[in-house]
Amino acid sequence: MNQSGLYHLLDIESLSRQQLNALLELSSLIRNDPATYANRLDGRVLVNMFFEPSTRTRISFEIAAKRLGMHVVNFQSDLSSSVKGEALADTFQTLIEMQPDVIAIRHPHDGMVAELAAEAGPSIHLINAGNGCIEHPTQALLDAVTLLHHHDDLDHLIITIAGDICHSRVARSAVEIFTKMGVSQIRLAGPEELLPAQSIRDAKIFSCLDEAVDGANVIMMLRIQHERFGQVSLPDNDAFYRQWGLDAERLSKAAADCLVLHPGPVNRGVEIASEVADGTQSLIREQVNNGVFVRMAVLLTLLEV
Ligand code: NCD
Repeated sequence: MNQSGLYHLLDIESLSRQQLNALLELSSLIRNDPATYANRLDGRVLVNMFFEPSTRTRISFEIAAKRLGMHVVNFQSDLSSSVKGEALADTFQTLIEMQPDVIAIRHPHDGMVAELAAEAGPSIHLINAGNGCIEHPTQALLDAVTLLHHHDDLDHLIITIAGDICHSRVARSAVEIFTKMGVSQIRLAGPEELLPAQSIRDAKIFSCLDEAVDGANVIMMLRIQHERFGQVSLPDNDAFYRQWGLDAERLSKAAADCLVLHPGPVNRGVEIASEVADGTQSLIREQVNNGVFVRMAVLLTLLEV
């Protein structure tokens, strides 16, 4: 076992406070001095095993690994034996036999990464790179690192998460990490059809965006994840934007120095206005930038003995 006691990164919930703090701290250290960490995992192998589309997460895992001197193999599900009917468990065992050091997995089914971890055996580390609607731990870590660059601690903040909460693993992992970090109030806002049946942790549910942003210190906007649901009667994009889009006027109801997050991909003019996404309060680009440092920190934590 490595020093951190962390073998796989499956979710935020099972991280101890100490493990979480260590990951956040290491991410910031790497961000401040990336050269010190160059090639620390020379010759080790990462497989990116993605069963869903991804730009930011997949590429930042690849860049993070390469900055650490690792070799990266990108498994492409549409070019693999998955299309010949091979079961995921068999595909996974096949990869394991080739003895990579770590596999980052994105899969549409809730709980799939934990299931594979149970099959993985002792010599391979797994990282959950986004799992169904429930977990996206590296996104939550990068959201926290980004906010910690602007606030010494998060406990006094009101954080609003708005949009398609129901289908969002980003929202669930964000609530987990912000709760662990003692955020004073977490608000979830969205149209009824896109809210979860029950709240997550102690988050307060809002059915009106104007009320949910009132006095907020951070607003995280989420896109509608159409690919995760069938028939839901939602207003068209223009009507959705009028009611649920974050534009400059709505943002002015939040705290004066309110920061804006979005995990991407952004749908401009649907959940967020360009003037906000590209505005001075937006941390969207910083989030992407921090994603590489966070993933370097995760790889180092799992692989360094
Ligand atoms: C998110 C995801 O895949 O859950 N994107 C990301 O990882 N940055 C959010 C989304 O797809 O809307």
